[in-house]
Order: sequence, then C-alpha cells, then structure tokens
Amino acid sequence: MRQSGFRSIVGLVALSAVVEASNEKRAFDVFNFVDPLIGTINGGHVFPGATLPFGMAKAVADVNNPDEKQGGFAADNSDITGFSHMHDSGTGGSPSLGNFPIFPQTGCAGDIINNCFFTKDERASRRINGTVVAKPGYFAVSLNTSIHTEMTVTNHTALYRFNFPSNSSTISYQNRTTLPYSPLILVDLTDLPDSITNGVVQVDQTTGRLTGSGTFNPSFGIGNYNLSFCADFSGAPLRDTGVWINNRAGSQPKMLKRVADGVNSPPLPAGAWIQFHPPPNNQILARVGVSFISTEKACQNAEAEIPDFGFDKVQSAAQDTWREKLSVIEVDATGVSEELQTVFWSGTYRSMISPQDYTGENPLWNSTEPYYDSYYCIWDSFRSIHPLLTLLDPQSQTLMVRSLIDIYRHEGKLPDCRMSLCKGFTQGGSNADVVLADSYLKNITTEVDWKTGYEAVVSDAEDEPENWAVEGRGGLTSWKTLGYIPTDDYDPYGVGPFTRSISRTVEYAYNDFCIAEMAQALGNMADAEKYMARSNNWMNMYKADQTSLVSNTTDFPNSTVDSGFVGFLQPRYLNGTFGFQDPSLCSPLYNFTSCYLNPDGHETYEGSSWMYTFFVPQDMATLITTLGGPEEFTRRLSYLHASGLLYIGDEQAFLPVFQFHYAGRPGLSAYFSHFYIPSQFNDTLSGIAGNDDSGAMGSFTTLSMMGLWPVPGQDVYLITPPYFPSVSVTNKQSGKTAMIKNVNFDAGYDNIYIQGATLNGDSYAKNWITHSFWLDGGVLELTLGKNESAWGTREEDLPPSSSTSG
Ligand SMILES: *[C@@H]1O[C@H](CO)[C@@H](O)[C@H](O)[C@H]1NC(C)=O
Ligand SMILES: *[C@@H]1O[C@H](CO)[C@@H](O)[C@H](O)[C@H]1NC(C)=O
Ligand SMILES: *[C@@H]1O[C@H](CO)[C@@H](O)[C@H](O)[C@H]1NC(C)=O
Ligand SMILES: *[C@@H]1O[C@H](CO)[C@@H](O)[C@H](O)[C@H]1NC(C)=O
Ligand SMILES: *[C@@H]1O[C@H](CO)[C@@H](O)[C@H](O)[C@H]1NC(C)=O
Ligand SMILES: *[C@@H]1O[C@H](CO)[C@@H](O)[C@H](O)[C@H]1NC(C)=O
Ligand SMILES: *[C@@H]1O[C@H](CO)[C@@H](O)[C@H](O)[C@H]1NC(C)=O
Ligand SMILES: *[C@@H]1O[C@H](CO)[C@@H](O)[C@H](O)[C@H]1NC(C)=O
Ligand SMILES: *[C@@H]1O[C@H](CO)[C@@H](O)[C@H](O)[C@H]1NC(C)=O
Ligand SMILES: *[C@@H]1O[C@H](CO)[C@@H](O)[C@H](O)[C@H]1NC(C)=O
Ligand SMILES: *[C@@H]1O[C@H](CO)[C@@H](O)[C@H](O)[C@H]1NC(C)=O
Ligand SMILES: *[C@@H]1O[C@H](CO)[C@@H](O)[C@H](O)[C@H]1NC(C)=O
Repeated sequence: MRQSGFRSIVGLVALSAVVEASNEKRAFDVFNFVDPLIGTINGGHVFPGATLPFGMAKAVADVNNPDEKQGGFAADNSDITGFSHMHDSGTGGSPSLGNFPIFPQTGCAGDIINNCFFTKDERASRRINGTVVAKPGYFAVSLNTSIHTEMTVTNHTALYRFNFPSNSSTISYQNRTTLPYSPLILVDLTDLPDSITNGVVQVDQTTGRLTGSGTFNPSFGIGNYNLSFCADFSGAPLRDTGVWINNRAGSQPKMLKRVADGVNSPPLPAGAWIQFHPPPNNQILARVGVSFISTEKACQNAEAEIPDFGFDKVQSAAQDTWREKLSVIEVDATGVSEELQTVFWSGTYRSMISPQDYTGENPLWNSTEPYYDSYYCIWDSFRSIHPLLTLLDPQSQTLMVRSLIDIYRHEGKLPDCRMSLCKGFTQGGSNADVVLADSYLKNITTEVDWKTGYEAVVSDAEDEPENWAVEGRGGLTSWKTLGYIPTDDYDPYGVGPFTRSISRTVEYAYNDFCIAEMAQALGNMADAEKYMARSNNWMNMYKADQTSLVSNTTDFPNSTVDSGFVGFLQPRYLNGTFGFQDPSLCSPLYNFTSCYLNPDGHETYEGSSWMYTFFVPQDMATLITTLGGPEEFTRRLSYLHASGLLYIGDEQAFLPVFQFHYAGRPGLSAYFSHFYIPSQFNDTLSGIAGNDDSGAMGSFTTLSMMGLWPVPGQDVYLITPPYFPSVSVTNKQSGKTAMIKNVNFDAGYDNIYIQGATLNGDSYAKNWITHSFWLDGGVLELTLGKNESAWGTREEDLPPSSSTSG
C-alpha cells in the first residue's frame, strides 16, 4: 500500500522518499544482530558453527580445550584439531558428537607422508586471531598453517571450502623444511570425547571417496550409537590415498578397522587420508554426508543435497532458510541499543538449533512419524524453548510432539533427555508431560495422535520403569500411597539415583497437574480429579516451622544471618518425620555445586530448597497463603533474587522472575526481568550466565524481551512490557499477527511499569493473557510509567491457580 502510494507521486521529493524507504528496508538485516559466538566461552558451550534450523549437520572447527569444547568450538585461544559435521549446543554433559573430523594440510614436509601430522595432538593448530566469521549457515576461521577454512551445511551434509595459500610452496612449516604444495586431507575415526569403541574406514583410490562408520557413546546418557560418513572432494587432481594409525601412514592398505584392543583406551588413533596435486585455484571442497543408517545412506544424503559442490549456493540457501524462520517476528527497535537487539535475535536464533530433525535417519524402528532427537534436555527445554517454538514455529513444534509420542510408542516411555539415539539422564520429573500439555492447550493438533499422547503421560504417572534414571519416574509406590518421595524411600521396583526427593516431589506434582489438565480437556473427569489431587503433593514436604540462616558473605564475611523467613520444603522420611537440609544449600551462597546428578547429591537438584519452595506453578494462590500472604510472599521472592540465593544460569530460575504476578505485583516481574537482562545476558562472548542447554538461555531472553512470559504447561502468559516499542509475531497456523505495543516507551527503561492496557482497543485489566491472543492476532497496548500502578493487581486480575479457578 505504501509502495503504490509512492509510485503515484512524481518529482524529486518522492524519489528521495522511495530511496530512503528502500534504504531503511535494506538497513535492517536481522543477521547484523545474530552473533552465534555469544556463549562460546565462560561455560555457555554454544555451538557457533553452520547449521540449518533443527538440522542434523552442524559443521564447525573443533578445539582441544576440555572445558569449553562441548559444542565443538570455543572463542578462546585453544588449538583447532579438526572440522566435524555434527554437534550439540550448550550442553552441560560431556562434549557431544564431533564425529569423523577432517583436517587439511598444505603438504607433508619433504613430501614424505609420515611428515604430515595425523593425531589430534600433533595436528592441533592455532587459529589466526580475528579471522573467525560466524553467521547463520556459515562459519570460517584461518589456521596458522595459512589455510583459510569455511563451512556451510544442508540438512545432513557439511560442505567445507579449504583455501590454500597461493604461495604454499615457499611456506616453511614448523622449521622442518619447506613444504611442497600437495594438500593432504585426513579423516579421524573418533569424536570429541574420544568415545569410539570400534570403527572402520575405507578409501576408494579411483574416486577419492572416503567412507566409514563407528560406534560411539552418548554424552549424557546410556547405551551407544552407530554413525556413518561419506566424504567426497572436488577442486584438485587426486594424487594418492591411504590410511594411518598413530602417527604413521601408508598408501596401503585402503581399509582400516579400529577396534578396542583391551589395553589402549580409547583405541589408538586411526583414520584415512587423501592427497592431491596442487589445486588450480587453491581451493579444495570437501563434502561430508552423515547418516545413522549406513555409509550408503550418508553418500545418498550428500549426493542428493549437494550434487555440485556449489558452496555459495548452499550457503545462500541456508541463510534464506534462517531469514525465513526469523521473519515471523518483527520488532520496532527505535532507540533500543544494539546490544539488546543482539541479545534478542541471537537468543532467538539459538532457540532453533535443536532438537535436531533425524527423520529418515532413525535405525531403531520403522515409522512414518517424524523423528527428532537431541532433546537435550527436556528438563531444561520444557520451561521456555518449547513454549517459544510453539509461538514462532508451530509446525516444527507439532513434528516434535509427534516424534515424542512415537518415541513412547516404540520405547515405552517419553524421554526426559535424549541425544544421539540414546536415552539421556532424567534430572527431575517426567517433564515431557509438561511439553505435551502445553502443546495440547495451544492448538498443536495437526496429525497429532493425542490418544496415544495421553496414554504416554499417564504411563509416566502410573508405571515405574526398570531404570528411572533415564525415563519415567521413580518412587511411584510411595508417590501414590504417601504422597511424596521419601528421602529414605523403599523402592525395589526400579533403579535410579535415590536423591532429589524434594525437587522430584515438586516436579512430579506439577507433572500430575499437567496430566489433569489434559484429562479434563479430554473429558476424562475421573483422571482429572485423581491427578489434580496428586498435584497437591508438594505440600507434603513443606515444613512450616523451618527457618533459614543464610551466609552474608558480602556484608559480613563468613557469617550467617537469619533470613527471617519461616517455612521451607524439607526432606521427609518414610515414617513421616522431617529431616533437615539447609534451605540455602546448593544456592550460590552455600556449596553451590553439591547438588549435581551423582550418588552423593542432595534432596534438591542443581538448586536450593529456597528456590524449589517457589515451584508450585499449578497453585500459586495456595503457596502464597502458605508463605504468609501476598506481601510476605513478595518480600520473600524479592529476597530470593536480591540476596544472591538465585542463580539465573539454570532454568529453574526463570519462572520465579515472573511469579510476582500471582501476588498482584506485575511491576516487580518487569523490574526483576531488567535486573537480569542485560547484566547476566549480553552480547559478549561470555554473555550467557550458564550452559545454554540447547538454547534455553536464548529462549529466556527472547520471551522476557517480548513481554509475555509463558507459564509452561498452562494456557497462561504473564504480561510485562516488551523491551521494544513494539513486538509482533505472525502465527504460521492462523496467518494472524499479534502485536504488543508500548505507549510511553523509553529505551532507558525507567518506564517499565504498566499503568493500563487495552486489547484491540478495549480496556484489559488482567495481568495475564491466553494463547488465543497469538492465534487470533490483535494488538495488546500497554501504557507505561515510572512507578507501579494499580493495573493488574486486583484478585480478579491474577493468573489462575488450581485451588481458586480449577
Ligand atoms: C590471540 O588472542 C589471544 C586471546 O584470545 C591471545 O592470548 C594470543 O596471544 C593472541 N595471539 C596472537 C598471535 O596475537
Ligand atoms: C601452529 O600452532 C601449533 C599449535 O599451537 C604449533 O605447534 C605450530 O608450531 C604452529 N605452526 C606454525 C606454522 O606457526
Ligand atoms: C530440511 O529439513 C527441514 C525439516 O527439518 C525441511 O523442512 C526442509 O525442507 C529440508 N530441506 C531440504 C533442502 O530438504
Ligand atoms: C605469501 O603471500 C602473501 C601475500 O602475498 C605474503 O604476505 C606472504 O608473506 C607470502 N608468504 C611467503 C612465505 O612468502
Ligand atoms: C624455528 O626457527 C627460528 C629461527 O631459526 C627459531 O627462532 C625458532 O625457535 C624455531 N622454532 C622451532 C619450533 O623450532
Ligand atoms: C525396517 O524395515 C526395513 C525394510 O523392511 C528392514 O530391513 C529393517 O530391518 C527394519 N528396521 C527395524 C528396526 O525394524
Ligand atoms: C572466610 O573463609 C575463607 C575460607 O574458609 C577464609 O579464607 C577467609 O580468611 C575467611 N574470612 C574471614 C574474614 O574470616
Ligand atoms: C524416622 O526415620 C528417620 C530416618 O530413618 C529416623 O532418623 C527417625 O528417627 C525416625 N523417626 C521416628 C519417629 O521413628
Ligand atoms: C559442602 O562442601 C564441603 C566442601 O566440598 C563439604 O565438605 C561439605 O560436606 C558440604 N556440605 C554439604 C551439606 O554438602
Ligand atoms: C546482608 O546484610 C546486609 C546488611 O544488613 C543486608 O542488606 C543484606 O540483605 C544481607 N544479605 C542477605 C543475603 O541476607
Ligand atoms: C555479561 O554476561 C556474563 C554472563 O552472565 C557476565 O558474567 C558478565 O559480567 C556480563 N558482562 C557485562 C559487561 O555485563
Ligand atoms: C489451529 O491449528 C489448525 C491447524 O494448523 C489451524 O487450521 C487453525 O486455524 C488453528 N486455530 C486457530 C484458532 O488459529
């Protein structure tokens, strides 16, 4: 409409307006605000390489820093050991995937093959500072070998472009001698954690094709998986081929098996190599297809997806895919700092790296359903990643829900964590129940078999699996009879770590609430009542007279003071008596790292009883009464944030930022959202507070900055002002656009308190809204001011609780 208006006007003024308008349009390039390198040091463990949204192929340069290589690359000064084709992003487990790295060399000193570098240790090379380029669908870095490396991907294939220095023949390499220009590229039968137990590689001396497969271990789970690759090269005449083991290589034989010998663990490094005559344009392209099915399938994937080695074409297709994915959001960013725009868009980008679409690549069962993997982990992702994907990409969320249900169909349980076709470790409850309920309530329906979906969540609640360390729940007998997980539980029905009795109890209670919601919507009232009753079980571990001393390290070094708050979740035994765990244990103030998933963990997982006492999303009304009413609750929740008891780098901390809404203080939710962003989430390389956990931290900033925080598992979004003058999201199912707009926006964020709101022009007093806003579209307009107001504070304005609104 605007455009045709311009066309009807003649003259210079109109012309310059057109030019300006198109400049303005060109000026916004979302890629200017996506920095994949955020979180590549400081434990973020972000994968910054080339990937498609939810793609299986993820190519990047792998480094050798054991603390930072989880996602492959790290933006530190560590050495680069290879280029591999699959990764997981942001994990807290061991380094993941990184199988079959390849590595290019300009030539071998003295033209003697054994003078090339074969093992990870020997070939490790410095990067040249300032040469890393990371953007959606593309990654590049130069090595100190003078080779400039670039990579891009399709769904199952990585494409590398190795650029050799044109004057290579004169480069002196590690003082050994002058290098002849005869590039060698090796493949290493290993992965990032060197978990390979056996593998095989072969090289076709006529075509130069390298193929192989191996058996590896998952990075945070049990079992093992097989993976295959298929590498082809283009750009230079083939000179010779062979295999290598340890640091010795030969051109015979053309095939090598790597098996565990029982002594060397991991087995001795080994692989294959290919050598070329000088490439006429100093470039060699390497195309590496991967497959969980077979080497044949890996080759087919590569041939089908990248028939002609056209690097620029593949790269621009990848970038188009990303632009299209991100285009559902539109922000008016007038006045907003580049830093915050970068935090917003980079977080959104990272939310779409995983889960990974392995449809057609699942060797475990035959099915016509989609298969996604790298749910790493649902304990992290149920809170904000899946609710965000439901908004931005309901089609992918639908396929993910179908794949979760199909995993239940074939493995007997929904996963809580899953990677590389293996069962991952369960950290608390069976939180796929929350993902399913959330999707069920938000119109994720297309071809979803909800009958089986419901059966799956009921199975979590009713049937204890043999190994509840990797699926379902433990302690179900006590859960059903006593109504809590006893700290000294007697459970001969399955195995798993007998820890986390408090955090498992509150998560199981919330899982049961989510099942009750589904039961109710499906008209199964008996189940709805049963699970609603169990959702109250959190109360059974609440010890009303428990006090809490906290250390006050800042003001009084090494002293403890009475926090003044009474009533916390506490360990409870089979006989009904309470035990004791310091409520601040495992908070940043006291033994922060003592509650991990190990046999001597405590009764709360990766956090304190202080924090878990707030985890009653199903019935905040009763929790608030229990803790002494809205004022006292507000004081306690503010103290949780301000005292240093809460660590925002772990996902359980997200919801407490916004729970002030339930006490009629939506303004404090906005206040504490700004308390953490950008101080803990910024655009630096270390700008993520904890492990990104497949984008969980990214989804936290996106949703916080959009202004509607989803309570996962409920059709409830808590309203705070966006960090922008306005944010719009177009729903791909309905085609409708929903806009949240601030009046009196100021980019200094003094005006963060809502004074009044309208929805499509009508006054809107509730401090929460439902998913229908996103589906139906419309405008939610928020008028802002410098002080908290009466808006959203009345009883009838508060979000629902099971005890008050059913
Ligand atoms: C490259 O940068 C790192 C810091 O990231 C620094 O330690 C190193 O000395 C730099 N190397 C060169 C060659 O400048
Ligand atoms: C490149 O980096 C590696 C690893 O730090 C080092 O051993 C090697 O000497 C460097 N090579 C050159 C040419 O500087
Ligand atoms: C890549 O996979 C996505 C689904 O994850 C699919 O929508 C897309 O069409 C695939 N791309 C190509 C080129 O096959
Ligand atoms: C190779 O060429 C580059 C660019 O022309 C030059 O900077 C470099 O010094 C040359 N290297 C050698 C070893 O001659
Ligand atoms: C390479 O040679 C230079 C000059 O002779 C010398 O200073 C340097 O220490 C040598 N480096 C290595 C790794 O031997
Ligand atoms: C899937 O079907 C194929 C073809 O019928 C068969 O060869 C294969 O064994 C089946 N895989 C599984 C895991 O059942
Ligand atoms: C506090 O405790 C630490 C570790 O126990 C000790 O090093 C430090 O000296 C103590 N500080 C004071 C003021 O007592
Ligand atoms: C209950 O069991 C706990 C843990 O075994 C024990 O310490 C406590 O003394 C028992 N209480 C009673 C009243 O038996
Ligand atoms: C706290 O950590 C210290 C040092 O690791 C350990 O000795 C102590 O047992 C821990 N306390 C608890 C309650 O876990
Ligand atoms: C520590 O003491 C100071 C001064 O009394 C107080 O402001 C602060 O809130 C206290 N911190 C905690 C964690 O109680
Ligand atoms: C950026 O975020 C990191 C991680 O939370 C934090 O440690 C750092 O202090 C922040 N930097 C700035 C400049 O705010
Ligand atoms: C719900 O999803 C279906 C299928 O994608 C779509 O046809 C329908 O319009 C959606 N409902 C609403 C209210 O948007």
